[in-house]
Amino acid sequence: MNDLNKKLKAKKRKASLGGGKKRIDAQHAKGKLTARQRLDLLLDENSFEEWDIFVEHRNDSSDSKDDTFMGDGVVTGYGKVHGRLVFVYSQDFTIFGGSLSESNAKKICKIMDHAIKVGAPIIGMNDSGGARIQEGVASLGGYADIFQRNVLSSGVIPQLSLIMGPCAGGAVYSPAITDFIAMVKNTSNMFVTGPNVVKTVTHESVTAEELGGSHTHATKSGVADFQCDNDADAITLIKKLLSYLPSNNKEKPPVIKTSDQLNRMEKSLDSVIPLNPSTPYDMREILVKILDDNDFFEVQNGFAKNIIIGFGRISGKAVGIVANQPKFLAGCLDIDASKKAARFIRFCDAFNIPILTFVDVPGFMPGLRQELGGIIKNGAKLLYAYAEATVAKITIITRKAYGGAYDVMSSKHLRGDVNLAWPTAEIAVMGAKGAVEILYKNEVKGDIRKMNELAQSYEEKFLNPFEAAKLGFLDDVIQPRETRMKIAKSLQMLENKTLKNPWRKHGNIPL
Ligand code: HXC
Repeated sequence: MNDLNKKLKAKKRKASLGGGKKRIDAQHAKGKLTARQRLDLLLDENSFEEWDIFVEHRNDSSDSKDDTFMGDGVVTGYGKVHGRLVFVYSQDFTIFGGSLSESNAKKICKIMDHAIKVGAPIIGMNDSGGARIQEGVASLGGYADIFQRNVLSSGVIPQLSLIMGPCAGGAVYSPAITDFIAMVKNTSNMFVTGPNVVKTVTHESVTAEELGGSHTHATKSGVADFQCDNDADAITLIKKLLSYLPSNNKEKPPVIKTSDQLNRMEKSLDSVIPLNPSTPYDMREILVKILDDNDFFEVQNGFAKNIIIGFGRISGKAVGIVANQPKFLAGCLDIDASKKAARFIRFCDAFNIPILTFVDVPGFMPGLRQELGGIIKNGAKLLYAYAEATVAKITIITRKAYGGAYDVMSSKHLRGDVNLAWPTAEIAVMGAKGAVEILYKNEVKGDIRKMNELAQSYEEKFLNPFEAAKLGFLDDVIQPRETRMKIAKSLQMLENKTLKNPWRKHGNIPL
């Protein structure tokens, strides 16, 4: 028996070396960790249970048949992150460049099936040359098997992707379906077709970094949610992200103890809104002051900066935050901001995370580019996401809530549960100047004094929270310093909220 045990150990040791020392050194030379080192950093000590370590590729029709490696380019299994069960796969670039073979895809599908069966998150670490070229269509089939599982898992268990090397061709579509994507700076890229194909087809000269590096996706395309300095940073970030999420759609997010008092008054908020309504301020500062331990975990902080999304906690309970950012584009809702927030709201709603909305929005972004780009359908996505959400929804209007954007930003009319405003709130169809120019077009022509007079009277009458409060569209007007306490009480009151939408196969969100 001892001999057999020794043989087993030796076999596993060999498997753990992946494609061998030379390739591991090459991986390190690129500034990347190996698949197993990444798992060591991600999972609690001694918690990893590896499956399918002995699986090899089944391709016997090509020149790779003599070249087999145990594990076949991906390490799979389950383990724990901060004591909570997760399923994982980590592509091993040292074996056929982490490319996806039929067997390798089967390994990934096996753990995906278990993750959904037991209701635990799945984390994929991507570092792969794409389809295993020697296997042809068998490999393509493997991708589709994974996509199908990604789709069925969507909204059922959290799916998180780390991109830590190449991720090209159709391979990008598995991470794209997952809930969050973190990319590592300089070593990762994602594109449907690489620079060479781009050059041939469109005659554009572009580097891999410009086409699909982390900066591109975190700031321009919006494909990536996070940009991290290196593999270790990406893993730390994903562990923190997990701490806000429940393990599946039937659970609530974990509650983390805090010593931050729920009735903490934040006096500085009373003077945070500038006297001049056109002066910008940083909404992020408000969020930080309100959340437990001043800790705000921002998502997509480099993309569509006119809206802020992210997670935080109030009296230990996770909340998803959506907030207009007056510092960028005056907080206007444009195509990118609408899509960014809509997807986040749908994630929170799927996973029982209450949504806090902070409103300071002058309206939807005007302009030819926006209209031609489909601001109508894209803005509708945000409206749709808020309107269908059944989780607790708490809204705070800090300043402007104009026009259609007032309706969209989690208003009472879209089943906002608790809608509050600061005394600085201005809830109206539009700003004073625009309104006067339309209503008194002839009277004010060339008469600045008259214009100012009428604008002032419009401001006094309409640009306040009390007209909306009179109609019951706000539940209360509060002092800014009380905001944290009011939110905490509202969350407590809404703890057992139940609300069901009518049965349907699925809605038809304007995609
Ligand atoms: C089999 C592959 C491979 C692949 C890399 N390798 N990609 N083996 N199938 N797709 C192997 C290499 O032969 C090499 O083996 C090892 O992995 C490392 O590759 P290198 O080229 O030496 O590494 P590097 O210089 O870092 O370049 C990495 C790379 C490049 C940019 C990923 O290898 C590359 O361009 N690969 C092909 C990418 C590709 O076109 N894939 C198909 C995309 S289409 P040795 O033995 O020397 O270590 C696709 C369709 C998916 O994926 C559709 C889904 C629906």
